[in-house]
Amino acid sequence: MSENSAPTPPKKVHVKTWGCQMNVYDSERMTGLLKPLGYAPTEIAEEADLVILNTCHIREKAAEKLYSELGRLKKHGRNADAKIAVAGCVAQAEGAEIRARAPQVDLVFGPQSYHRLPEMIARAAREKGEVLETEFEAEEKFDALGQSREAEGYTAFVTVQEGCDKFCTFCVVPYTRGAEISRSTDDITAEVRSLAAQGVREVTMLGQNVNAWHGAAPAGSGADDWGLGQLCRHIARIDGIERIRFTTSHPRDMDDELIAAFGEEEKLMPYLHLPVQSGSDRILKAMNRGHTAEDYLRQIEAVRAARPDIAISGDMIVGFPGEDDKAFEETMALVREVNYASCFSFKYSRRPGTPGATMPKQIAEEIKSARLLELQALLEDQKQTFNAGLVGKTLPVLFEKKGRSPGQLSGRSPYLQGVFAEGPESLIGQIVPVLITGTHPNSLSGQLVREAA
Ligand code: SAH
Ligand code: SF4
Ligand code: F3S
Repeated sequence: MSENSAPTPPKKVHVKTWGCQMNVYDSERMTGLLKPLGYAPTEIAEEADLVILNTCHIREKAAEKLYSELGRLKKHGRNADAKIAVAGCVAQAEGAEIRARAPQVDLVFGPQSYHRLPEMIARAAREKGEVLETEFEAEEKFDALGQSREAEGYTAFVTVQEGCDKFCTFCVVPYTRGAEISRSTDDITAEVRSLAAQGVREVTMLGQNVNAWHGAAPAGSGADDWGLGQLCRHIARIDGIERIRFTTSHPRDMDDELIAAFGEEEKLMPYLHLPVQSGSDRILKAMNRGHTAEDYLRQIEAVRAARPDIAISGDMIVGFPGEDDKAFEETMALVREVNYASCFSFKYSRRPGTPGATMPKQIAEEIKSARLLELQALLEDQKQTFNAGLVGKTLPVLFEKKGRSPGQLSGRSPYLQGVFAEGPESLIGQIVPVLITGTHPNSLSGQLVREAA
């Protein structure tokens, strides 16, 4: 590496990340941006010269976690000169409030400004902590981040799309991440190529509405504009890339090309995260989702026709304003019909500034809790049934690292479950056939299959 040219003294940065995978990606890119400035990552907040808290604003508890972490940092002491930065979606939504409530914070910047981090750090040093950057300049950010970066391990996230124009009435994302924007085909291709050259085997393309991605087709390909289906096929041709995933999709942006890709592109993994939020058309309308329960079910049907073994995943909200017993029952009925391999579920959380927060007929906390419990019992049952159905099957597993016990390897199935098996470390980074022998609450266990001589 070329680090010997930097005369700057070694410094340490501690990054703590909450929220979605896009924040995980952003945190990795921030760490990368700080490397040339002499910052090495550390797991220990107390020894860092710079602490970055990369925050999430999606539900109430998410923002509370920021303030309790700030309190903890204050109490446990830190490097006397250490700077504290608050990044991410809480920074975007509540920048001024953070500064008022936590004066120890030096830098506050939103998800579209972090590419200017080196410049902001210099400014904070000069101006003694008055840096607040919450502009929406996603395009500038994509350009500034460039096309290559250091890989860590055999799987990687690549942000291909940001922002959201859909304005579901419960959701803060359109306000914290700004308008929908797609990263260019060339930049994505170059980033994936650079990751593949460093040994990455699996890429997960990220976006708040990843299937709204569209971009210019490369010159000479005969098409004008590409959607995510074509992008998947394109990425699949990059040497070294064996597995492709994407998340999160929106039902309104599922097109035939993407559905067909599940059936035709072997490297596109059989796993689709397609949130629906509710099974009641009345609630879907109040949520401004722009589709009905039936539309969603037909899409699932089409995806399963293209790829029968596909694992379907989703997100559900219980207790949205106006959700009565009948509406909740419709959610349960939809879940029974879909039969999820895995699904996240949440109690509706009133977010200031969103239309849902001021709607009449807010639901009492006890009712939300009871509904969540009932829904989660059903979802857990479906997940265990899906997992149990894999016992006795041989699945290709990409081993990513050592497992918890000695001699054990840890990897992922095509359906995204964690898989553990005994095997030599030399298999890390490889895709290997594994006979699934057992299921556990959050993973599968298996045995390496000996190749027939
Ligand atoms: N863009 C994605 C979701 C992004 S947020 C989509 O449209 O599907 C991730 C999940 O958090 C959502 O799918 C939703 O289930 C949940 N969520 C968002 N806002 C919420 C709120 N106010 N209360 C409870 N759950 C919420
Ligand atoms: Fe939020 Fe809806 Fe946009 Fe998803 S589609 S990010 S839930 S507003
Ligand atoms: Fe949270 Fe922002 Fe992601 S609100 S879920 S970190 S887009």
